[in-house]
Amino acid sequence: MPKITFIDVAGASRDVDAPAGWTVMEAAVKNDIPGIEAECGGACACATCHVYVDDAWLDKVGQAEDMETDMLDFASDLRPSSRLSCQIKITSELDGLVVHTPERQG
Ligand code: FES
Repeated sequence: MPKITFIDVAGASRDVDAPAGWTVMEAAVKNDIPGIEAECGGACACATCHVYVDDAWLDKVGQAEDMETDMLDFASDLRPSSRLSCQIKITSELDGLVVHTPERQG
């Protein structure tokens, strides 16, 4: 099963099992990862599931689509690696994915 590593602003790292077909947001919420609020439940309508994809994974994860890019404007401290974690679908290709959680959501 794919594993995802979440790293917080203090550098604390947590590995979780993330079945293919879940989103990165679901893997975070189901494992009580701090810093992912996901208020809209994955509908790309809240921007409180904001994460930074680790540089090493940017190509594999790919780019946000238009709807996600529009919603990302509501996230604070936007960076080129910013994504909404509810819009990243987990596949076996993403086994070992590393994402960083932001200091705060919204
Ligand atoms: Fe609301 Fe991702 S959970 S945009």
